[in-house]
Formats: sequence, C-alpha cells, structure tokens
Amino acid sequence: MKQELSNILKKIINKKYEIEEVTVSKSNRPDLCDFQCNDIFKLAKIYKTNSVELGEELVKTINEYEDFNKYFKEVTFCKPGFINIKISNELINKYIKLIKENEKNLIKQEPIETYVIDYGGPNVAKPLHVGHMRTAIVGESIKRIIKYMGHKTISDVHLGDFGLQIGEVIYGILRDKLTIDDIDIKYLDNIYPEMNAICKENEEIKEECANITKALQDGNEEYRKLWKKILEVSKQDIKKNYDFLDVSFDYWYGESDAYNYLEETEKILLEKNLVKESEGALVVDVKEEKDTKEIPPLLFKKSNGAYLYASTDASTILQRKKDFNPDHILYVVDNRQELHFTQVFRTVEKAGIMPQEKLEFLGYGTVNGEDNKPYKTRSGNTPKLENLFKEAKEIFISKKEENKNMSEEDLNKIVNAILKFADLSNTRTKDYIFDLNKFSEVTGKTGPYILYTYLRINKILESQNKNLELSNNIYNEPDRDLRIKLIEFNEAVNMAYKERMPHYIAEYVYNLCVSANIFYQNNHISNMEDETNKNDWLYVLTQTNKIIKQMLNLLVIDIPSIM
Ligand code: ARG
Repeated sequence: MKQELSNILKKIINKKYEIEEVTVSKSNRPDLCDFQCNDIFKLAKIYKTNSVELGEELVKTINEYEDFNKYFKEVTFCKPGFINIKISNELINKYIKLIKENEKNLIKQEPIETYVIDYGGPNVAKPLHVGHMRTAIVGESIKRIIKYMGHKTISDVHLGDFGLQIGEVIYGILRDKLTIDDIDIKYLDNIYPEMNAICKENEEIKEECANITKALQDGNEEYRKLWKKILEVSKQDIKKNYDFLDVSFDYWYGESDAYNYLEETEKILLEKNLVKESEGALVVDVKEEKDTKEIPPLLFKKSNGAYLYASTDASTILQRKKDFNPDHILYVVDNRQELHFTQVFRTVEKAGIMPQEKLEFLGYGTVNGEDNKPYKTRSGNTPKLENLFKEAKEIFISKKEENKNMSEEDLNKIVNAILKFADLSNTRTKDYIFDLNKFSEVTGKTGPYILYTYLRINKILESQNKNLELSNNIYNEPDRDLRIKLIEFNEAVNMAYKERMPHYIAEYVYNLCVSANIFYQNNHISNMEDETNKNDWLYVLTQTNKIIKQMLNLLVIDIPSIM
C-alpha cells in the first residue's frame, strides 16, 4: 500500500518537479488522515522556495490528477510542509480483494534463501522449565515467519547431550546400583537436582563426575550404554513437551554430534595459526580493536584434552555448512549467552568457515516472577514446564463455570494460546513477568481475547454464503477502520521477519481484533435488510478471520472449536 501510494505521488510530483524518491508513512494523526508525506521540505530546499507555497501548489496538482478518485478520498496540505492523505474506498477494497484471492499477494517476494534455525536447546536429563518454553516458542514462530516469507528453513534442536550433567547422572546411577532398565523419567527428574546440589558442596564428587563425562566423550563403553538410555528417556519427555506446544524440529542433533567435526575444526584453526596455548589449554584470540568491552579468548580445548561448549558450537557451524550450505544460521538463545556467540562467530569467521554476516544471535529475555527474578514456584523451586501447563489450565477453568465442560483438546489449545500470546507479545529481547492470571483473562492483550474475537466472528459467518462479491462501498468509520487495519498485516509480518521479532505480529493481531470488536459492536449484521451492505460486511469479516488465523499460525497458536 505505502509503496503504491509513494509511486503514484512520485508520478504526480514529477509532472512539476524532479524528485528521486517519495516516502509515504502512516499518519501520526489517524483522526485527520491515513497517510502523510513529508517530502515537501526536502523539495522546497532543492528548489530554494517556500515550503508552504510549494506544498499548496502540489496539493492542488494532486487534486487535479485525472485518476484522483482511484487512489484518494482527500488530499490536503498541512502547514508548514505536510501532505495529508485519506485513501479512497476503491484503493482499500482493491487490497481487501487481493487478500481474498491470496493474502501472500501482499508479501514481497525475495530470492529464496536457506535458513538454519537453532532453538530449543534443552539439556538432556535436566527437567524443562519456563525458559525452555521461551526459546521453543520464539524459535518456532521465527521459523514459521521465515517460511511464510517463502524461504527454506531447517530447524535443529541442538540438544545439550554431552555436558557435565550427564556425568552427574551417571554417577548417581552407579551409586544407586541401577540397571539400564531402571532408568526412567521419574528417576532422571530427581537425580539431576540431587547430584547438582551434591556437586556444589563436594569438590571430590564433582571432579569424579567431570572424569566420567570426559571418559564418556572418549568412548567408554559402559558409560555410552547408560548415556544412550538416558538420552532415549529424556528425549521422549522433551518431545512430549514440544508436541504439546506444537513445536517441531527437522533435526534432533546434539552437541555429541559435533564431536565428528571437532578434529577437522581444530585442524583448520591450527593451519590458520589461530590457536594459542594458554596454561596447557588451546584458545583462540578473538578480541578486536573496535571492542568497547573485553572479549576474552575462546576456549577450544582444556588442558586435560576435553572440548567445551564453544568448541562444539564452532564445529556445528562446520557441519551445517557441509550439510546444508545455509545463507543464514539463526540462534534463539538466552541473552546471557551473547558473549559465547560473539566468540564462536568471530572464531569461525577467522577460520574461513563462515562469515559473521550469516550468523545471527537472537537473544531472548528472562521469564520472571513478580519479584523480577527468574520465575520460581512458591516453594522456591524452578517449576517443571509440564506443571505450568497444568496450572494454566486450572486457572483458565476457574475463570468461568462453562470452561469446565470444554474438551481436553480445546483446553489444550487455549492453554497454548495463553502461554504463547503472552510470551510472543513481549519484545523478544526483553524480560517479562509471568502472570498466568493476567495472561488467561478474556479481555486485554491476551491469547483468549484473540481467540474469543475469532470465534465470535466465526459464529456470524457460519451460516452465511461464502462466495461473496465486494462492492465499492464503505459504510461507516468502524467499517473503514477495520478494512484499513486488515490490509496492514503485511507490514507487521515484514517487520517481524526483518527484525526476527514476532511481537510485531502479536501487536498487529491484537489491534486488528480491537477494530473487529468495535466493528461488530456498531454494526449488526444478522438483521440487516440491505443485501449489498450485508454481503460486504460478511466479505470483510471473512477476510478478517482469514488473517487472524494466519497470524495466529505464525504465533504457533491453534484455534479451539469453542470458548
Ligand atoms: N543447551 C544450551 C543451554 O542450555 C543451549 C543451546 C543453544 N544452542 C546452541 N547452539 N548453543 O544453555
């Protein structure tokens, strides 16, 4: 829309003045106009004349343009140099029809690129918590947005499956004299927190667990058998949680898979003279002159020969390059890991494995409790993700008597909407406060509000003829406002895509729902006599719901059958 308006204005202005580019932006006085153009100042400067005179003259020319009505309803000059634009019904309706035909008509086509998206990243044998939900949802949403834009996506969960926690759990299994068949999720859920606490107190045991981890990485048969079983049990549990969230991955690689590429990565680093020895360890210097804060060297190999988190991430980039040759690799990881990724990205660039411009760290903020500290239960524990799902369900059910009778499937969809909309409507990089009570209200900027709006519109549409034509009329302000909101969806998607920020879509779909609610509070369709008017409104509402549904899909939210 903005592009089309810019083009037409440029064409008209060029009749009198030469101008390279005309910019049209959304009006910041929506009560006065839909769009504005601020280029008069620029033009007046070039032509060394007064902006008021020039502006008034140009607005007159625009008003005399032979196809004025096709684009504009009203174009006025606003001192000292603004063109205020109200667009025509014809233009608005043209875009509504484009949405009906295929809303992707309004999405800019770009050359197709390949994106690897690394999100989820749970650590095997550790229970999932609310932070894991954030990377899963944000990552899945970003993946869907990129796919929607027409690109190829490859998702990889990048399990933490080879770290110290495995050594700790194996230590526990040996201590408790378990057989392989005794290892189940209940045992894992308890043993990791227990061992973690023990290791914090007892240096010797911690050392022992580190040795087990190293022996596992070096191929110890007994440990590998136990590890495989731990992996199997833990992955099953992780998958169950992701299934509930409708989050899926093309690849279930883990840090352990990067071990196949460590040698080659190390060789490249050595050949390029990038590694230094420091107290027996191998490090890569990555600081740069432009740095404003100290960037320490990347630790590639410890003095005992063990590889680390940074080495596996660097090697994984080599693996991804070989397997997928991607144009971009995106990492949806906790903000607090930014330094780690700076070190990794600089290392692989220096090594000529992949330039930094292809690598993006997409940090996300912490999910906090009322006290602004990472979310905990009342008893001070980090709650298991599964229990949060349960809690959200209970809170939603407690809001209304009828909610008790809903099907399990619908309830699960609503729980998803509650959690995801809350998460995704917050800016990715910012922390937010986890308040299930607020998130599950049916009013306000919540998932249930969006679902409720959709279902209410759906009810109006249910019994109606679906094959409608759109006339050229627009009947009142709420109607006009809804139509204009509707045709702005592509801008929200574009912003979300460009900045890898799903909240633009959440914000948009909320505003669309607000307009839709105002629309049907003012306009009663069911008892309308004027057939054309009725058809037009059904047409607009059909497209509204099409867009709400599509936007919800990009936010990984499914719609229940009733609410
Ligand atoms: N497992 C890691 C953690 O819990 C997150 C993994 C993120 N992805 C990556 N390629 N490093 O901190």
